[in-house]
Amino acid sequence: MNKVKLASTLLGATLMFGAVVPFASAAAVSETIFNGAKLYKRERCETCHGATAEGGPAFPNLVTGLKNLNQEQFKAVVLNGRGNMPAFSGNKKVADGIDSLYAYLKGRSDGTVPAGDLEVAK
Ligand code: HEC
Repeated sequence: MNKVKLASTLLGATLMFGAVVPFASAAAVSETIFNGAKLYKRERCETCHGATAEGGPAFPNLVTGLKNLNQEQFKAVVLNGRGNMPAFSGNKKVADGIDSLYAYLKGRSDGTVPAGDLEVAK
């Protein structure tokens, strides 16, 4: 392949991905899951558990963790805290939205909710 042809191939690929990726990156989910994801970000779960919920050196991976927690166990840990996990029972947004947080993280865990931008399915 000569240089000109290579350059135009690369340009073509850039234009194609530039056009496609912004639309492809927001996955459509239920309103409940969308609200859960918003809470996860806004109430700072992500500062410890990471933007993708996969945790870090000192914080558990919730994508794998939620495979072993049912909804009641999840609520108990989040509302009452455990070890270095702070209690959120005094946070009204988290307490009121605990079911949507669970739905979001359960979806991340079972693979139905991808990491990254989400939008409410129409
Ligand atoms: C200050 C850091 C921090 C923040 C903020 C935080 N967590 Fe945690 N979380 C932890 C730590 C540390 C643990 C492990 C607790 C232990 O050792 O038992 C944990 C454990 C958990 C677990 C149990 C995981 C398992 O596998 O058993 C869940 C579920 C969880 N957090 C959800 C949340 C949610 C939802 C939020 C936001 C509302 C949140 N966390 C905010 C630090 C944090």
